[in-house]
Amino acid sequence: MKELKVGLVGAGFMGKAHVVGYSNAPKLFWPAVAKPVLKTVCDIDSDVAKDAKERFGFEKSTTDYMDIVNDPEIDIVSVCTPNDSHAEISIAALNAGKHVLCEKPISNNAEDARAMVDAAERAKEKGIISMCAYQYRRVPAVVLAKKFVDEGTIGEILNIRTQYLQSWSADPNSPLSWRFQKKYAGAGALGDIGTHVIDIAQYLAGDIDEVVSNVRTYIKERPVQEGGADLLGTVKIDENAKKAPVDVERPLKKSPKR
Ligand SMILES: NC(=O)c1ccc[n+]([C@@H]2O[C@H](COP(=O)([O-])OP(=O)(O)OC[C@H]3O[C@@H](n4cnc5c(N)ncnc54)[C@H](O)[C@@H]3O)[C@@H](O)[C@H]2O)c1
Repeated sequence: MKELKVGLVGAGFMGKAHVVGYSNAPKLFWPAVAKPVLKTVCDIDSDVAKDAKERFGFEKSTTDYMDIVNDPEIDIVSVCTPNDSHAEISIAALNAGKHVLCEKPISNNAEDARAMVDAAERAKEKGIISMCAYQYRRVPAVVLAKKFVDEGTIGEILNIRTQYLQSWSADPNSPLSWRFQKKYAGAGALGDIGTHVIDIAQYLAGDIDEVVSNVRTYIKERPVQEGGADLLGTVKIDENAKKAPVDVERPLKKSPKR
């Protein structure tokens, strides 16, 4: 069976999810079109990269994503880093002839997103496939809704209302990760979880003409966490811990083990 050699960039929360996806794909979809092989994992934190190699069964680890981009053996690159590096890594991988599965949101601004789409369109002419990871399109209810829309069963769509609620960041002792910092995350909760429902709205009802938005930062300071990987509210830092503003623009320290 054909092998699909995988390079993973960013071995945090979603890196883990992509590995589960690659590992399960041939078990769930058979006969499989290809067998994913976990070739190289990259994380800027060398401890995270080494752990991920052992834990997920990659053949190699690295701290430089260009090792993946320049490896002629690698067929597909999963981009699972914080949002500010999606464009740079995805464009390099596409230009090197790799298929790319990039996490959402595609990037932090329209200029980078445009450059990514241009690179993806150029690569497509050479048979390269790329995708942004909006996995909720595959939720059975959304698949059924899309079928009804495409078949015309529900007629003209007059109104679509979407919501995505998560509560972990409502805890003021949930640590200050990259996700709360504009420089890395871009658009806060809107870009983080809002982007999923914006995608579903477009997928079902077509392009959006106009946008109105209210934005507010409810928790303005959070306890400083050791490291850059997002702990996703799974760890509370002592309320007496040093606090820092949510929208700071400074490099994060080394990532913690997860
Ligand atoms: N599709 C979804 O439902 C979903 C859910 C959560 C997160 N995400 C997206 O996945 C991406 C990653 O989020 P996460 O929750 O996994 O974050 P995370 O903090 O858990 O993991 C990010 C990892 O990337 C590493 N990293 C940072 N810059 C790097 C670089 N230049 N090269 C290599 N490694 C680098 C960090 O050290 C960290 O280990 C984000 O874009 C986020 O929006 C998507």
